[in-house]
Amino acid sequence: MCGIVGYIGERQAYPIVVKGLKRLEYRGYDSAGVALIDEHLSVYKKKGKVADMEEAIVGQHLGGHVGIGHTRWATHGEPSDRNAHPHRSASGKLAMIHNGIIENYMAIKEELTQKGYHFSSDTDTEVLLNFIEDIRVNNACGLEEALRIALKRIVGAYCILLIDEDDPDTILAARKGSPLVIGIGKNEHFLASDASPIIEYTKEVVYVNDYQVAIVKKDELVLKNLGNEKVTPFITKLDMELAAIEKGGYDHFMLKEIHEQPATIFDCLRGRLLPEAGLIKMGGVEANIDALINAPRIIIVACGTSWHAGLVAEYLIEETCRIPVEVEYASEFRYRNPIIHPGDVIIAISQSGETADTLVALENAKEKGAFIFGIVNSVGSSIARLSHAGAYTHSGPEIGVASTKAFTGQLAVISMMALKMAAAKGTITTEKYTELLFELQAIPEKVATILKDTSHIEAIAEKYKDASDFLFLGRGYNFPVALEGALKLKEISYIHAEGYPAAEMKHGPIALVDENLPVVFVATRDRFYEKIVSNVQEIKARKGKVICVASEGDKVIPTMADDTMFVPDADELVGPLLSVIPLQLLSYYVGLKKGYDVDKPRNLAKSVTVE
Ligand code: F6R
Repeated sequence: MCGIVGYIGERQAYPIVVKGLKRLEYRGYDSAGVALIDEHLSVYKKKGKVADMEEAIVGQHLGGHVGIGHTRWATHGEPSDRNAHPHRSASGKLAMIHNGIIENYMAIKEELTQKGYHFSSDTDTEVLLNFIEDIRVNNACGLEEALRIALKRIVGAYCILLIDEDDPDTILAARKGSPLVIGIGKNEHFLASDASPIIEYTKEVVYVNDYQVAIVKKDELVLKNLGNEKVTPFITKLDMELAAIEKGGYDHFMLKEIHEQPATIFDCLRGRLLPEAGLIKMGGVEANIDALINAPRIIIVACGTSWHAGLVAEYLIEETCRIPVEVEYASEFRYRNPIIHPGDVIIAISQSGETADTLVALENAKEKGAFIFGIVNSVGSSIARLSHAGAYTHSGPEIGVASTKAFTGQLAVISMMALKMAAAKGTITTEKYTELLFELQAIPEKVATILKDTSHIEAIAEKYKDASDFLFLGRGYNFPVALEGALKLKEISYIHAEGYPAAEMKHGPIALVDENLPVVFVATRDRFYEKIVSNVQEIKARKGKVICVASEGDKVIPTMADDTMFVPDADELVGPLLSVIPLQLLSYYVGLKKGYDVDKPRNLAKSVTVE
């Protein structure tokens, strides 16, 4: 949420900063801006996407070897030119960008207003910036010290970059709760919210930790804590290629990421799933197997799509390991003073590893003594680092705002983890265990089959794109898939969609059914098949339009449904890895046909770093 870029070195800063902002635009795209120091400090900003800002400043002098840039997802103040970042301090000398929320900004604003400060935006960022400037003037201290003093006073989350016209050789940066990566080049440094703007220049990076301040010059990087003590920067090597963050010939990242799934699921299973040997190798699970299988309870904490993956995990773990599982929305869990018993295990699921609600929920649970296992995609992210142990999904960078390949990566990890735990606990027969290992191994190939020809899904999208509502229904393992299908559709096409357990429909939602309502059933062949066939009949009897995801070879469903999307047969425990794919495509095509920006749906942002 909000993308931050900075450059200091020997090259021109502007092109690097703008390119970086385009790479980070998935984090927020309601306004964009840059600040550059050449002889003087210049700030350019504009409501809209990065390209709108670029266009608006054509012909301006955009020189300088130091610059910062921001692409915004509005929190305080509507998206507008004046609320766009960077903000300038009252003296005009300082410029700052910020990702996060300063919770006590009203009190500070009041304090500053009484001192005669005026504000030209509605943002908490401008308040923090002037607060820093005010401390510098009153304490007659340097900017670095003023920054540290200010940070000790504020409550909330931040990643900030700060530059000073009078010190064009330095970028000051600080983080708490919002990510910051610094790339180390030869006589140059790159700063960003994630590594994507950095990898084409250098693979050596430092992940800045909470409560650290970075003093960044072209040839020096100093990290300090808020007590002004130096901290040794820990340099890591990025394991990411540039191609992974480019569209690679696809029209949209979302479509590319849907089509990457045979490869990303394969990568997730590779080296871990060894069906011939009857083995699953997962270091984080192995090292903590006793804690995991003896847990009196497992609590899964996540948001959005990751929460849906958590629901699949609940079904899988309860069925195979016989351990009670609760799945919690992180935002509710964190504020509920939840009861955590000794031995309880928390599994956190997060693509970005930076989701503020999930992160804080875990911090609270960790303080209460819980064991935290993280299932995360983004390597080195805050949740990955906070967890006691974990497993990466290895899905590669997910740029499309709507999560697709990260979801199937989460399902793949969860499936392996559940089976490994069940085998260790003795709650699964050897036959079933072995069968499921082979079932999992076959998934990438089966996903590829679904993706081979998607023209019929495109035709279904065309047929139903003007509907104003959709209902998604599923049972058992396919219930979370129905929820995920509904979430995808509303995100990308802005059509109201709801997901329900298919049997729950008759307790209310069936009242919505008429000849205008498309109802999507996830109706693959599983233990609920007969029951879901009856549910389809109930909708047809009320003239609803039925679209089904069905198993290949099913002869019954197509005779009842108006439209059918087939997926290969699979054991129901791994079925969601297949049944979700047509739903991802359906929402992609509906969004596309309605003319929307499917990679950057309105009001959304990837990596929700505010609560
Ligand atoms: C939906 C989507 C969101 C995220 C949610 C959690 O397509 O992407 O619902 O799943 O914001 O994000 P992570 O997984 O990064 O914690």
